[in-house]
Amino acid sequence: MDPLPQTDPEAAEALAELAAEIARHNQLYHDADAPEISDADYDALVRRNAAIEAAFPHLVRSDSPAHQVGATSTGHLAKVAHARPMLSLDNGFSDEDIADFLGRVRRFLALSADEPVALTAEPKIDGLSCSLRYENRRLMRALTRGDGAVGEDVTANVRTIADIPETLPDAAPDLFEVRGEVYMEKAAFAALNARLLAEAADPEKARQFANPRNAAAGSLRQKDASVTATRPLRFLMHGWGETDSLPGHTQAEVVTAIAGWGFPVADGFALAPTLEEALGVYRAIEAQRADLPFDIDGVVYKVDRLDWQARLGQVGRAPRWALAHKFPAERAQTTLERIDIQVGRTGKLTPVARLEPVTVGGVVVTNATLHNADEIARLGVRPGDRVVLQRAGDVIPQIVDNLTRDAAREPWTFPTHCPECDSEAVAEEGEVDIRCTGGLICPAQRLERLKHFVSRGALDIDGLGEKTLVELLELGWIAAPADIFRLRAHREELVGRKGWQAKSVDALIEAIEAKRAPDPVRLLFGLGIRHIGIVTARDLLKRYATLPALRTLADALIELRQSTEAAVGETEQKLQGRLDKAIAEHIGVENVGAAVGHALADFFGEPHNRTVWDDLLTEVSPPAFVVESRDSEVTGKTVVFTGTLETLSRDEAKAQAEALGARVAGSVSAKTGLVVAGANAGSKLKKAAELGIRVVSEMEWAEIVASAV
Ligand code: IVH
Repeated sequence: MDPLPQTDPEAAEALAELAAEIARHNQLYHDADAPEISDADYDALVRRNAAIEAAFPHLVRSDSPAHQVGATSTGHLAKVAHARPMLSLDNGFSDEDIADFLGRVRRFLALSADEPVALTAEPKIDGLSCSLRYENRRLMRALTRGDGAVGEDVTANVRTIADIPETLPDAAPDLFEVRGEVYMEKAAFAALNARLLAEAADPEKARQFANPRNAAAGSLRQKDASVTATRPLRFLMHGWGETDSLPGHTQAEVVTAIAGWGFPVADGFALAPTLEEALGVYRAIEAQRADLPFDIDGVVYKVDRLDWQARLGQVGRAPRWALAHKFPAERAQTTLERIDIQVGRTGKLTPVARLEPVTVGGVVVTNATLHNADEIARLGVRPGDRVVLQRAGDVIPQIVDNLTRDAAREPWTFPTHCPECDSEAVAEEGEVDIRCTGGLICPAQRLERLKHFVSRGALDIDGLGEKTLVELLELGWIAAPADIFRLRAHREELVGRKGWQAKSVDALIEAIEAKRAPDPVRLLFGLGIRHIGIVTARDLLKRYATLPALRTLADALIELRQSTEAAVGETEQKLQGRLDKAIAEHIGVENVGAAVGHALADFFGEPHNRTVWDDLLTEVSPPAFVVESRDSEVTGKTVVFTGTLETLSRDEAKAQAEALGARVAGSVSAKTGLVVAGANAGSKLKKAAELGIRVVSEMEWAEIVASAV
């Protein structure tokens, strides 16, 4: 994990970024079913958020992701409680695991060793489970599994699935919930992706589903059921929920009865009187796996006798009477041909293995990520090695083993420079990731950097959205921020292009010209130097006032880094600690630590970046920073914010107070002039009362701000 932030502003900024980032991934995962990051990376974000919140409990946001993580709903579908919980399954992987499962069942039921325990065995379909409630034999409601206790109402969507009958025959009970898997066939999934690609205005941005399960989930969980109707969803029944009577005494009998009402059941469903027969079904299903029209990831066994199921009950969220026997992750061997470096949009260098093409689990694989230098060292891989690839479910293929680790071959070394722009690539203290320091000049990062530069929090240039930036980048008219201010030279050419008229071009140029004297804080923030968020940019400029002064500071820090040498016997770690302390002291700004100093030194240590900076300052003239202060009752006083603020972020509140010429402190003392208390304020409030300090609500604070002159 990255080191934790050290100061309140850094932590507040990190929490704000994490809240936005996690919300975005939640949306991608739940709403769009198009996750951009692995579950492990997502969990790492959530853990980092929790760690920062634990260290800075007073900064926990009202929209903290911790309160939302695991939310299964995107909000657009109604949530409804299940009449009976929808359970999940425990997993087994080996024949032994299945024997152990049967052993546990026998022990629990106190059966003698020779009492047969029949199991049903059936494919485990890789889709999403759904509960269909029939009242008086009419489909009344369909719910997704959700968190098992509460699902999402997808009734209208489910009515578009042809496999699901609208009514049950007269023989069916008055109340019956049929449960099973909604899925998409592999061919339909490929055709859907092809159609989405063909229909997209911009093929690069076409919505594409990662696998059939995501496609099924995304299609079922649509706000608009007419969209679901265009998606070829299927259904396979595998169980039931609430009912007023059961049409049988065993799993197999009830499944047969439900199938008789018109519900499809997966081919391969079988009754296995013994363990050996159950394992035989497993092998038969495994052998058919590649030829099945849909994805399966194992076989599910269930104790056939329902009276035994009832006695066995459940542990946690999984029944004691069922087990999923998962297929092993599919593996294949191939040759690692080369290791390329990909530069991400944020500058991270990721090594990618280029492989001799090989089929793993029905998919031809030619690339696999190697994550970082540590992973390469762990596997000891070099071009030419024979490697073992593994693909588990929808996970991106991983290299899990190097078969020729001992062969005499040159080790592969991580590049010291970015392959895209040749800037130096560095790892930050304690981090495994190596990043390009080329920032604004690196082609891989250019679009993101420019987007950030013109974004609302930075220069805020109206009408310069991503689409326009991409167009201007492709035309070669802009590459670095300064070029934006030279766009007027291309006015005539731009007017002639599709989608542009004289009016829109002039409006854009006017919006750009309006930013010739930008706020220096926003300009500095806009450069996207690592660790320099808007709060740090303001803190730095409060002390250094102008951008040239900051450049001088950066040069001094570079010098300091170069001239700091290890004392005799000093460890690397000690030296680093001493240097960090010296850097922070040299900067001399409260709340600005060594990480910021290193980032400044890295940025200005790169000649390309100096050129970008100098060039930019020939086009724009930011005024020196002045703390605007307005007169109010808190001018010259110290304000403390406590509790959860509902309408403001901590940063905003701090900026407001500073604009009124007040200082902001983290704790209440005799010097405190005013305490602003949000929801759940605790000990600080008590202290303020003891000291007789005026306490106002967030609303009253807003009035103080509004009435300042
Ligand atoms: S039985 C009480 N049978 O697997 C047990 N589940 O990993 C409830 N699944 O949430 C499930 N095929 O969505 C059962 N033949 C099958 C299944 C199956 C797929 C899914 C189901 C469940 C998940 C648990």
